Amino acid sequence: MAYFKYKGIPFSTEFFSEETLSYVENDFQLLDDDIVNVTYPKSGTHWMAEILGLILSHGDPSWVQSTPLWERAPWIELGDHLQVALKNPSPRILNTHLPFQLFPKSFLHSKAKVVYTLRNPRDAMVSSYHFIKGFKELKDPGTVEEFMERFLSGEIDFGSWFDHVKGWVQMKERANIFFITYEELQQDLRGSVQKICHFLGKELNSQQIESVVENASFQKMKDNKMSSSSTTPENIFDHTKATLMRKGISGDWKNLLTVAQSERFDRVYWENMCGVNNMTFPWE
Ligand code: A3P
Repeated sequence: MAYFKYKGIPFSTEFFSEETLSYVENDFQLLDDDIVNVTYPKSGTHWMAEILGLILSHGDPSWVQSTPLWERAPWIELGDHLQVALKNPSPRILNTHLPFQLFPKSFLHSKAKVVYTLRNPRDAMVSSYHFIKGFKELKDPGTVEEFMERFLSGEIDFGSWFDHVKGWVQMKERANIFFITYEELQQDLRGSVQKICHFLGKELNSQQIESVVENASFQKMKDNKMSSSSTTPENIFDHTKATLMRKGISGDWKNLLTVAQSERFDRVYWENMCGVNNMTFPWE
């Protein structure tokens, strides 16, 4: 599996192209009523896309149960998804894993709303380690040790987790960016949905909120064929080797990393994250 670098960030040639990345960065027009679901990979992208879809539908699950997630919320950095995004009616939900420096420049002059979801990078790494095994064209992740070193050095699609988070956190004073963590969603999904509704200016009654919470649960999403990765074609993904809706828990990294690996991770984490914009995260 080959990689190319776009402005210093690695991308797999199988899925990404310089042409699309450049278009998205320089020419793609965000609309004022767009909602952009931004994450580093494996941090809860599908979960947030489902929540946003349910909120826009006032808790009615028909849309999320009848339309594949990538059609409801296309990833703008993927060429074929971008075409879907360009055709989707407003208000659009857009997904992206792009670091801030590659995000559409049109954002700076728009009222589009960004929801940025972060997850404990140890769990995001472990989730990635398992998920990558399903992609037929992606390089085998190798040993945990090898994969962890690639993750820590950012030699992986979308680059370093640390740079991604730091780049987006710098924008935290903007009124149209909302930060939330996977861990908060897990601890209090109802409260999180209420906060997201407030940020989006959507008023849902308690029954509608209840329906969002119910339909965005791990089990409901796993059962929803339109939201689990079962819609990814067999020629791209081997569903016998990996699954998107794997465990859906926090702390699974403890089952994979040795004590020495976890200590190494912690050292690199703190070298990078010490005092980041005075923010603290649930895993710190
Ligand atoms: P695990 O592999 O740890 O189970 P992404 O959507 O960014 O690719 O992230 C995928 C991760 O989010 C997977 O983590 C998946 O199980 C988890 N996930 C997806 N939907 C979820 C939900 N409703 N509740 C909890 N976790 C969820």
